[in-house]
Formats: sequence, structure tokens, C-alpha cells
Amino acid sequence: MMKVLLIAGARPNFMKIAPIYREALKYNQVQCKIVHTGQHYDYEMSEAFFEDLELPKPDFFLSAGSGTHAFQTAKIMVAFEELSQKEGPDLIIVVGDVNSTLACSVVAKKLLIDVAHVEAGLRSFDLTMPEEINRMVTDAISDYFFVTEESGAANLVQEGKSKDRIHFVGNVMIDNLFYQVKKLDGKMPQRFATSKIKEKLEDYAFLTLHRPSNVDTKSVFCEIAEALNTIADKMPIIFPVHPRTKKMMDEFGLGLSNDIYLFSPLSFKESLFLWKDARVVLTDSGGLQEETTALGVPCVTIRENTERPITIKMGTNILAGTKKESILKAFEEAVARPKNQFKVPPKWDGKAAERIWKIFLKKNRQD
Ligand code: UD1
Repeated sequence: MMKVLLIAGARPNFMKIAPIYREALKYNQVQCKIVHTGQHYDYEMSEAFFEDLELPKPDFFLSAGSGTHAFQTAKIMVAFEELSQKEGPDLIIVVGDVNSTLACSVVAKKLLIDVAHVEAGLRSFDLTMPEEINRMVTDAISDYFFVTEESGAANLVQEGKSKDRIHFVGNVMIDNLFYQVKKLDGKMPQRFATSKIKEKLEDYAFLTLHRPSNVDTKSVFCEIAEALNTIADKMPIIFPVHPRTKKMMDEFGLGLSNDIYLFSPLSFKESLFLWKDARVVLTDSGGLQEETTALGVPCVTIRENTERPITIKMGTNILAGTKKESILKAFEEAVARPKNQFKVPPKWDGKAAERIWKIFLKKNRQD
């Protein structure tokens, strides 16, 4: 029996573990348990996603909660060390780039447990981003690197990783997206609280914003808000507000246009229901850059850099920067682009999780 702990902590992790977990159920020789670190804990940020994504309740919940990076990471490490010693897994799987990814990979490796990193090798080359540090540390000690795009493999080779540990398997986030789109298309959308607003607005933009570099500093957030207010004069914006962003908006007393419709964080399905038909998505999220590319929805990324260059090279993504003028220019360019100009990147075909498990099982047979 191959004993595996599958780790998730924050919202974007949940979409990535869902297809990996579903696929694991197909193999009798695998026992896969879910560990939720508790990095995100509000119902809308966590439990709603587990329900939506058809994940069972986690086998273990570590109750980490919020705090400074050191506090949060340390809490996860202490709790996960105890759990790992009790459970004795053969392998842990970490996904993405959040604090839980770093914390659990370091703990496991020091206990001589194999670590697999899903979404390895992505680099923004921007060390002011906490996620970049998380990615680099996790990749420094992982045994398996599962990459979503060629740039990930190239970065790892550049950093001296041996090629036989790097596996270009595609994108589990897109596995989940395709699975969920099919489900959504078969259902009556009226059950969503936002259905009425979607019907009312002919053309709309969909916005997410939560990066500390965008929302934690007043002058930066105000400049972005000015751009958004100008866009809203032309096209209404639907904006589910992340808890961090809400906190900063209240603190700064930030004024947004009445044509920006604010919502609490939405479930995965409701959010997808809105953005898949948006005229354009405005975002600073990593995942949405990829998801919009997979569905051919124009995307304006409100950041100075991206660790997902394939979404620009082949997909719908435009890097807008964080200045008012550059955001407005990117918005105009996005809405003017013809829709059929884009391609879905290689291996973003809904089969990434299947490829990952085949690699584990082959290795397991060899040992
Ligand atoms: C984390 C990840 C980020 C990811 C994002 C997605 C790190 C370093 N950051 O950032 O990569 O893109 O999740 O959402 O791991 N809060 C709540 N309820 C919750 C969770 C958080 O109210 O369930 C509030 C707390 O006030 C907290 C703040 O949001 O202080 C930020 O949460 P935190 O987990 O520290 O980072 P995120 O900004 O969510």
C-alpha cells in the first residue's frame, strides 16, 4: 500500500488537490488522505470550496489560521510534524506556492519522506512576492517536480535539477476547470445569488484583487482603484472581495464607483459562472491567468510580472502593470482583441492528475 498525504491550505490549493484526489480513488494500491492546514478557514474561503469541488471533509485539519508569515508557517510546521510522525506516509504531495506548501515540504523532507511538488518550477523572479520564496524553497528540496508549462522545466534545469525528476504533466487546475465547466453547463444557473445581476448586465468585467503588493499600500491601491473606476464608467465590474482586500479597503476608506458591484468571496462554481462569460477578467491571481487562457476569456493581469508566461505567449493574458494608464491601455487592448486568436497550452487537457499518478505508480513498482 502506498500511503500518501495530500496537502492543501489556502483557497487556490483546493482546486488543485480535487482532481489529484479523485484520480487517487481509482487505485487500490494507494491510500490518499487529505490534510487541510487551516491557513484559510472562513466558510467562503474553505468549506464552500470543498463542497463545490466534491472533496470529502479533510482527514486532518491542522487549525493554523492567520498571522504573520513566520507565525503561520511555524504553526503549520509544528502540527504537520506531529501528524507525519503518527501517520508515517511514503510520500506527501504539495501544490502551488502558499505558506502551507513550503511548511509541509520542509517538515516532510527532514523526516526523510518523499515530497512531490505539483506546479513546480514557475518563477516570477520577484523575491518581494512571498509566493516566489515558497516556490523556490519547495523546489530546492522536492523529489518529484510536476510542471504545468515548459518554462517551469527550463527554470528547474537552470537551477541544476536533474531532468529525470522533472515531469511535464500539464495543469491540474485545468483538470478541475474542465470538470467543473461541464457540471455547470448542465445545471440551472438561477440558483446563484448573482444570477440576476449577470442577466441584467450585458457586458461586464470580472475582477479579483488580493496581492499584498497591490492592496496593502495605500498609494498603490488608490492608483489601481482609479483605473477600475474609469473602466467602470465604460463597463460595469463584478468584484468578489477577498478578506485581505476588504480589510485594506476599510482601513484606507477607499471609494469605488457604484458600477463596481461588490460581493463576499464566491464559491468556485459561482465565480466560474460569472467569469466565463465576462467580456474581460481583471485580476492579480495566478490561477485565473491560467483558467482564462484555457477558456479563451480575455485577461488583464494587474501585476508587474507573471510566473506563468505561457498565458501571455499562447493565451489571453496581458500583463498590465499597476499604474492607472498601463491598466487602462491593457483593458482597451483586451476588449479589442479578436476571440479566436488564442491557443490552449500543451497538455492542458484535463489529464494532468492521471499522468501524475501513473508516474508515482511506475516508480513504486520499480522500488
Ligand atoms: C494566501 C496565499 C496566496 C494566495 C491567497 C489566495 C501565502 C503566502 N499567500 O494569501 O498565495 O494567492 O492565499 O486567497 O500563502 N483571512 C480571513 N479568512 C480566511 C483567511 C484569511 O479573513 O479564511 C484574512 C485574515 O485577516 C488574514 C488575511 O485574510 O490576515 C490574509 O490571509 P493569508 O492566508 O495570510 O494570506 P492571503 O492574502 O489569503
